[in-house]
Amino acid sequence: MTPASPSAPVLTIDGPSGSGKGTVSRLVAEALGWHLLDSGALYRAVGYAAGSADLDLSDVDAVTRCAQATKIRFRDPGDGGETRVIVNGHDATDELRTETAGAAASAIAAIPGVRAALFERQRGFRRAPGLVADGRDMGTVIFPDAPYKVFLTASAAERAQRRYKQLKAKGLSVTLAALLHEIEARDARDAARVVAPLKPAADAVTIDTTGMPVQTVVSRVLALVRPAS
Ligand code: DC
Repeated sequence: MTPASPSAPVLTIDGPSGSGKGTVSRLVAEALGWHLLDSGALYRAVGYAAGSADLDLSDVDAVTRCAQATKIRFRDPGDGGETRVIVNGHDATDELRTETAGAAASAIAAIPGVRAALFERQRGFRRAPGLVADGRDMGTVIFPDAPYKVFLTASAAERAQRRYKQLKAKGLSVTLAALLHEIEARDARDAARVVAPLKPAADAVTIDTTGMPVQTVVSRVLALVRPAS
């Protein structure tokens, strides 16, 4: 792997859950041939590790120690398939995708010690030829000097609908009303927390993706990095 490079260009893509960040970040990273950081997976991994160790998620000291100790690796299966997330040696990819894991991640993400434990790890993903960083605070806290910053939004109703389709396609049993409720609660928690709340960086370009096909969003984002294309 190429070594971390503080001078490699970074494109930050922040936004609430269901805004399309994950899909857009992956497609843009592929198009540019850049590395990808799915920072939400790190928070999900810590929430999962804390849950597996039977920790009380409101025990700030215990969860902080857990964040410091948890070993998280991303493994590319090499066949174009989904990146696997290995948590303390266990492939937790499937468990991390669930709404329960998302809610646990959102809860532990409000703990300053957890964010501090993940700070340098995230910056270590900055490598040549460039990095696409997907999250909530990529442009505001982790890579404030990134030359390219995007904030994706969409109405809560549309985000719930997208999550509904995704989870249904994976065979999970969910209701639209419950998802909308969960998304609104998670947005409120992520935006209200004291450390690194969900908000656009002052120099981010905001794109409202409500009703917009993914390819249109990808083209708009790519145009920021490659204005001539
Ligand atoms: O993007 P996601 O749904 O996988 O993220 C799960 C939770 O992790 C999200 O609700 C808040 C938290 N998170 C965060 O606080 N900061 C990030 N950079 C990424 C995720």
